[in-house]
Amino acid sequence: MSQPESDGPSAGKQRGTRLRKGSKLFRRTSGALALLVALFTVGLLYAALSPSNAPAQAAQAASQSEIDAGKALYQNSCISCHGANLQGVQDRGPSLIGVGSAAAYFQLATGRMPATENGAQMARKAPVFSEQQIKQLEAYIQANGGGPETPTGDLRNMNDLAKGGELFRLNCASCHNFTGQGGALSQGKFAPPLGAATDLDIYTAMQSGPENMPKFSDGQLTPDEKKAIIAFVQTVNKEQIDPGGFPLGGFGPAPEGLIAFVVGMVAIVGVTLWMGSRA
Ligand code: HEC
Ligand code: HEC
Repeated sequence: MSQPESDGPSAGKQRGTRLRKGSKLFRRTSGALALLVALFTVGLLYAALSPSNAPAQAAQAASQSEIDAGKALYQNSCISCHGANLQGVQDRGPSLIGVGSAAAYFQLATGRMPATENGAQMARKAPVFSEQQIKQLEAYIQANGGGPETPTGDLRNMNDLAKGGELFRLNCASCHNFTGQGGALSQGKFAPPLGAATDLDIYTAMQSGPENMPKFSDGQLTPDEKKAIIAFVQTVNKEQIDPGGFPLGGFGPAPEGLIAFVVGMVAIVGVTLWMGSRA
């Protein structure tokens, strides 16, 4: 009832043309399909046969020359404190055998090494070496005794921010403060604020445990837990912007209230005394 015209005498003719058109379409599409299949096979063959071995070999070769370049840098800048064979030098610097590329990355990328003086805790500075030179020194130190390796890829686990916060309060806040602003430790040492640290700085700090900081092996904090802590430190913690006034170390309402109380009491007592002296 809806399409009375299509049942007319011209219907068969129409259907015929549609069929012929269809078959032409089929021939065309089948041609395209064959072409696609052919291209796909060629692609597969290419991927399977050609480049897979070449880059691996290139990386291997680069890393040997990287190690050699790192050794040359080491002999120039580090040997006086860490020894000719990374065994360390009494009263100058610890052994670097087995500290791994992670420790090397942390120390070099945060500018702590090469140290300029003995004794005092090394503060974060602009790095002395270029990114490439740091890689070379990492390769050299990693090649001598192994150890924790500098990770690659995304180091933030954004799915578990709450867990990251909990782990931070449990493992880090005692030294770095609840808001990551750092704090003093005994014997003139300090835990620095975390505001300037990159994701990789934080990860390698946990792997290597510089100065008084404990090492957090993968048994203590799994890589996923480390990444959750990093996500927390780099997002939630850094977004706690002070709405106004002095942050007072970010210790929260208790010390801020205490300071308001002390200042207020002193003012009231002062005014009372002043009024008493006039009377
Ligand atoms: C003036 C002496 C001195 C020089 C030069 C020096 N270091 Fe150090 N290095 C130290 C001292 C002291 C420590 C330990 C201090 C600390 O733990 O913060 C240390 C610690 C390290 C650590 C951490 C070891 C660990 O157990 O985690 C690494 C890695 C390192 N140095 C690499 C280097 C490299 C690479 C160079 C050369 C570019 C270098 N250092 C130059 C004195 C020096
Ligand atoms: C016992 C105290 C202590 C604890 C606990 C601790 N740290 Fe540290 N942390 C330090 C000290 C001390 C330094 C400075 C090391 C140096 O100067 O060589 C430091 C340095 C760092 C740095 C380098 C900051 C910079 O700007 O160079 C990062 C990042 C860091 N810690 C992250 C963490 C994280 C994350 C945790 C928890 C998993 C943690 N720390 C737990 C004491 C601590």
